[in-house]
Amino acid sequence: MTKKDLIKKALEAQKMAYVPYSEFPVGAALLTRSGKVYTGCNIENASFGATNCAERTAIFKAISEGEKKFDTIAIVGDPKAFTSPCGICRQVLVEFGLDTTVILAKSPEEYQEFTMEEILPLSFTPKDLENKGGTA
Ligand code: THU
Repeated sequence: MTKKDLIKKALEAQKMAYVPYSEFPVGAALLTRSGKVYTGCNIENASFGATNCAERTAIFKAISEGEKKFDTIAIVGDPKAFTSPCGICRQVLVEFGLDTTVILAKSPEEYQEFTMEEILPLSFTPKDLENKGGTA
């Protein structure tokens, strides 16, 4: 799976977005370390807070099918700008690794690449819960 192909999958998923309120469709394609791809779109709701972002749709699909090791996620939104994952999606992604590559794409030809560590520095991760109980 090349980066271009992963972006194409995100663009396909974007077409499925349910966005009657924002009219801002987002697509994501998540490549697992085992080579599978899980796609997602944003799914809005009349009760706005119930909206699910494209990234989390893809991640939850993968997790619910037993995949926890992620290589790369490609995200497409506005074709004229790089759509960056929201804070909630960053937190959900970082749970599964600081080294996941995040591709923000306008098209298969025009994209930027980061690591999770770069886009969510000083993050709170499972490592922070290693010493439970609140005592030294
Ligand atoms: N959205 C995503 O799906 N992913 C992002 O990275 C940013 C925002 C969605 C949520 C909402 O449906 C719409 O974009 C506008 O905020």
